[in-house]
Amino acid sequence: MKECTAVSFSSSANLGPGFDTMAIAHTAFHDRVRVSAIAGAGHGEIEVECDGIPGDADSNTAGRAARALYSELGLRDGIRITIEKGIPEGLGMGSSGSSAAAAVKAIDSSLDLGLSREDLVKFATEGEAASSGTPHSDNVAASIFGGLAFLVSTEPMKIHKFDIAKSLGILLIIPAIKMKHKTRVAREAVPKTITMGEHIVGSRRLSLLLQGLQSGDREIIRENMQDDIVERSRMHMFPFYEEIKKRSLENGAVGVSVSGAGPSIIEFTDMLTDTGKVVSGVSEIFESLQTKVSFSRCKTAGGAYVE
Ligand code: HSE
Repeated sequence: MKECTAVSFSSSANLGPGFDTMAIAHTAFHDRVRVSAIAGAGHGEIEVECDGIPGDADSNTAGRAARALYSELGLRDGIRITIEKGIPEGLGMGSSGSSAAAAVKAIDSSLDLGLSREDLVKFATEGEAASSGTPHSDNVAASIFGGLAFLVSTEPMKIHKFDIAKSLGILLIIPAIKMKHKTRVAREAVPKTITMGEHIVGSRRLSLLLQGLQSGDREIIRENMQDDIVERSRMHMFPFYEEIKKRSLENGAVGVSVSGAGPSIIEFTDMLTDTGKVVSGVSEIFESLQTKVSFSRCKTAGGAYVE
C-alpha cells in the first residue's frame, strides 16, 4: 500500500425541506486524513490518531467507516489513520461525516481499490450511523461528491450532484453552543409520522427549492427554504433561530435554514444581500444572548480529493 492523504470539506444538510435528502459541501472548513501502513501488521489492524491524540478505531467515524470498508472487502493490510481536524465538531457542519469521507477516499487510493463514489458514501455512512444513532448519508454524500448532493436512493446508494447558481454565496453562522449528543437528540425529536397535508407542502417546497438553487431565483429560494416538519420539531433546541432568520431576510439574505442538526445556520446570499448588515444584525442578537458567534463567508466546495 502507498501512503495517501485525502481532503474533504464541511457541509450543511437539509436546507429546510430536504431532511436526510440533500446537503451542500462548502469551502468554509476541511479535514485532512492520511493513511499509512503499520509496519509488520497484516491482520486488518486499524489505528486512528486525531490531532496528535491516538484513539481507538471505534471511537470516531473515520475509524468506523474504515472498519466497515475493511470488513466488506476482507482487507488485511494494517493501517494507521491520521486525522487533522479542520471542521469544528458538533456544530452541524458535517464534521464527523467529512472525516469518514476523507478516510475512505484515502484508503481507496492507498490500496488502489477503484471504488465508486457511491461505495465510498456507503462505507462513510456506516461510520456516521454509529455516531448519531441512525444512518444518514446526506453529509457524507456532499463531502464525497461536492456541490449539492441529492440522495436518489440509499439501497442501492445512488446520488445526483447538482451545481447551484454561480450568483449564490454562502454565509455560515456558527454559534459557540455545544450540546451533548446533539445529533442524536435532534434526530429523536423528529416526528415518526406526518399528515398528508404536511407531505404535500414539504414536497412542493423541496422541488421548488432545488429549482431555485440551480437557477438562483431568490424569490423561489426564499419562499421554499422552509420546513414545518423537522426544523419545527427541533426549535426548542435553537430558540434564537426564528429571530435570526427574520432579521437576515430583512437584510436581504436569499434563504435561511438550520445547518443539519444545528446549531449553525446556513444562509444563501446574492448581489442584493447586504452581508455586512446581516452579520451585524445576527451579532446583535447573539450579543443580547451573551453567546459568542462566528461567521464564514464561503462558496460551494468540490468533492473529496487525494493530495
Ligand atoms: N440530516 C441530518 C439531520 C444531518 O438533520 O439529522 C445531521 O448532520
